[in-house]
Amino acid sequence: MRLQDKIAIVTGASQGIGQAIAETFVREGAIVLNLSITQPVYDNDRVTFYPVDVTDRTELEKLIPELHRAYGRFDILVNNAGITRDALMTRMSEDMWDAVIDINLKGVFNVTQLVAPYMIEQQTGSIINISSVVGEYGNIGQTNYAATKAGVVAMAKTWAKEFTRKGGAVRVNAIAPGFINTDMMKTVPDKVLDPIRQKTPLKRLGEPQEIANAALFLASEEASFITGHLLSVNGGIVL
Ligand SMILES: NC(=O)c1ccc[n+]([C@@H]2O[C@H](COP(=O)([O-])OP(=O)(O)OC[C@H]3O[C@@H](n4cnc5c(N)ncnc54)[C@H](O)[C@@H]3O)[C@@H](O)[C@H]2O)c1
Repeated sequence: MRLQDKIAIVTGASQGIGQAIAETFVREGAIVLNLSITQPVYDNDRVTFYPVDVTDRTELEKLIPELHRAYGRFDILVNNAGITRDALMTRMSEDMWDAVIDINLKGVFNVTQLVAPYMIEQQTGSIINISSVVGEYGNIGQTNYAATKAGVVAMAKTWAKEFTRKGGAVRVNAIAPGFINTDMMKTVPDKVLDPIRQKTPLKRLGEPQEIANAALFLASEEASFITGHLLSVNGGIVL
């Protein structure tokens, strides 16, 4: 078991990639706290659902210290909650911009700012920001989303430097998934997905489990000398 009795916070673990990460961590011995706005689509007695919006700073300021009192430590944080609100730049409303920035970027700031001090204090921890291939190479219709996904990589690199200033081993990394089979992809028509499959050397979309496998590696001691790294899990679509 690679995560025996580790306490892991995974945001947005009610479905999709977050669900795969939560279930994989549990199989490796962890206890998972799922901070999401939607009900989990699965049952697992080692994953506890805490309904909270990552943009709700006031609620998080109450919840995170309560969780720390209840569980005693935080070993792993996966900033996974995220949304898309797509439109071409010339048509993107301010509301679309704000919604994506608030959840995908400020939400990561909010949760990490409240969780990281405990890790810094205990001198260990692994934080993983879920980015996207779109943050690396841009994507038509995703100005807001691309900005956030590049942003969380820059935040991971900054935190890799900041959180070890006083020594210890708080590691911070990012994962950039390619196009993965989840509900998020259901809004994308096949006329868009087929060329993506063709351009991908492995000729398919990825599965949530393939992102979870990368998260498990970065969360575990196997990655003990890896920090500030962006791990691309994309079938080769960006090389
Ligand atoms: N699916 C893909 O192809 C793909 C590719 C690259 C990156 N990603 C990223 O992976 C992450 C997960 O994507 P997914 O496809 O599993 O998404 P999903 O839509 O299936 O699940 C999103 C999860 O985030 C939670 N969530 C949304 N807004 C929230 C909020 N304000 N506060 C708390 N929780 C919130 C939802 O409750 C849900 O549990 C996202 O950050 C996404 O940008 C996905």
